[in-house]
Amino acid sequence: MSVEVARTSEIPVGTMKRVTAFGEHVLLSNVGGKIYATQNDCGHQRASLARGKLEGNIVTCPLHGAKFDVTSGRNIEGVRMGMSPELMQKMPPEVVVMFKNMGEIMADIEIRPLRTYKVEFKGDSIYLDKVT
Ligand code: FES
Repeated sequence: MSVEVARTSEIPVGTMKRVTAFGEHVLLSNVGGKIYATQNDCGHQRASLARGKLEGNIVTCPLHGAKFDVTSGRNIEGVRMGMSPELMQKMPPEVVVMFKNMGEIMADIEIRPLRTYKVEFKGDSIYLDKVT
């Protein structure tokens, strides 16, 4: 059964909106005038992708930088925990080692694809349904 979650006017081209449907956080993304719906929680450690950056059909997670295709939910790039060489030189060696270890642990965590939802329209309203 589909549920109404937003109006198309709330999501201009190139923007995203987090909504709730079926007790789940869902990310609506407007890619070139077409609305796509995926789970909002990152497939890495569940950060809100609505706080990330949408470029074309790719959303970048605001926490560790993993990238997902919002049209398919597919993970296309892993975590990126980069620090500029200038900043690294200003840090105590113990902190640099700690960040390096954290980066290696993060890289081992599996990144899952995003669940997708079926999107329907009735007038200006957006409806979602679960993909079975
Ligand atoms: S929580 Fe999204 S990349 Fe780690």
